[in-house]
Amino acid sequence: MYSSKISGLGMYVPENVVTNDDLSKVMDTNDEWIQERTGIKERRHIKKGDGNSTAVMGVKAAKVALERSGIHKDNIDLIVFATLSPDYYFPGCGVQVQELLEMPNVPAIDVRNQCSGFVYALSIADQYIKTGMYTNVLVVGSENHSGGLDMTTRGRSVSVIFGDGAGAAIVSRSNDDSAILSTHMHSEGKHAKELALIGPSTGHWVPEIIAESDTATDDHITYYPYMNGQFVFKNAVTRFAEVIMEGLKANSMTPDDIDMLIPHQANLRIAQFIQKKFKLSNDRVFNNIQKYGNTTAASIPIALTEAWEQGKIQKGDKVVLAAFGSGFTWASAVINW
Ligand code: ACO
Repeated sequence: MYSSKISGLGMYVPENVVTNDDLSKVMDTNDEWIQERTGIKERRHIKKGDGNSTAVMGVKAAKVALERSGIHKDNIDLIVFATLSPDYYFPGCGVQVQELLEMPNVPAIDVRNQCSGFVYALSIADQYIKTGMYTNVLVVGSENHSGGLDMTTRGRSVSVIFGDGAGAAIVSRSNDDSAILSTHMHSEGKHAKELALIGPSTGHWVPEIIAESDTATDDHITYYPYMNGQFVFKNAVTRFAEVIMEGLKANSMTPDDIDMLIPHQANLRIAQFIQKKFKLSNDRVFNNIQKYGNTTAASIPIALTEAWEQGKIQKGDKVVLAAFGSGFTWASAVINW
C-alpha cells in the first residue's frame, strides 16, 4: 500500500472586492450585523465580462498548484473537481479543466458535496494513490456563488455569507513520512432541504419554475439557495467536533497533537467554537473568512494555501482539515505534512 501527500497548493480569487458596505447599498443589511454574526468583512465576486467561471478559476488555481509541485501536467493521472456551482448543469467542470489545461483524455470526476466537497475529493485522490492505481491527482475546489445568489433583502441571510474563488492541490504518491494519514466522511440526507437549492432540477424543471415565478411568494423561490441558518449552525458545531475527534482517534492522537486546524470557512463563530472546545491557541487555527466569505468547496484549499504561503505549516506538522455543509455532509482529513 502506498501513501499520498499534498505536493503543491494554489488558489485564485477574482479581483473584484465586495465589502459589507457595498452589500448594504443593494439590500437591507449592514457591516455591523455581518461582522458580528459571521466575521466576514469582504468577499470576492466575479465581475461580468472578467472571463472567470467556476472552471476557469479552478484552472487558474490548478496552474499555481502544478507549478509549485514541480509536477508537469502530463504526469497528472486524474482530475477530481468539487463544486456546488458548476458552469453547466451537465457535464461537470472536471472535463472543462481537462480541456483548458490540455491534458489529453485524463479522467475527470466531479464531486457534489458542497462545503465538504474538497475533503471528499481529497479522500478520493488518496484512495486512488494508496491502491497504486494513480501517482498524481489534481484536486480542485471552486465556486461561483455570486452567479446564483438573491442579491435583494429577501436573500440577505444567505447572500452576505458566500464568496467566489478556487483552490487546488496536487496529491502525489509519497516517498517519505509526509502523508494523508486518514480521511473520514459522513452524510445525513434527512436534512437535505435545510440547506439547498431545489431547482432547476429534474424534480423541479424550468417551465415549472417560470409558471411559479408569476405567483411566487417570498417563501417559494426555489432557484435561490435556502438555508435554515440556526439549524445548520447547531449541526455544524456538533459534527465538526465529532469528525475531528474521529480522525484524531484513528491516528491515536488528541487535540493537543494538532499543529494546524483548517476548518471550512463557514462562519467565524463556528471556527471559534471549535477552537475553544479543543483549547487550541490562535496560531493553531487558520481563518480567512474575513477576506473571502464562505467559498464552500474552495474554502479549505484557499485557507490551506494561504496558511502554507505564510509559513504557518511546516514539514512534519499535524494538519487537520474539517468541513460541514449542505447534505448534510461532513468530513475530516488528518495529514502529516
Ligand atoms: N443583515 C441584517 N439582518 C439580517 C441579515 C442580514 N444580512 N440576515 C438576516 N437578518 C436578520 C433576520 O431577518 C433576523 O431578523 P428578526 O430577528 O427580526 O427576524 C435576524 O437578523 C436574525 O436572523 P438569524 O437568521 O436568526 O441570524 P443568525 O444569528 O442565525 O445568523 C447565520 C445567521 C449567519 C446564517 C448563521 O445562522 C449561520 O452562520 N449559520 C450556519 C451557516 C453554515 O455553517 N452553513 C454551512 C455551510 S454552507 C454550505 O454548505 C453551502
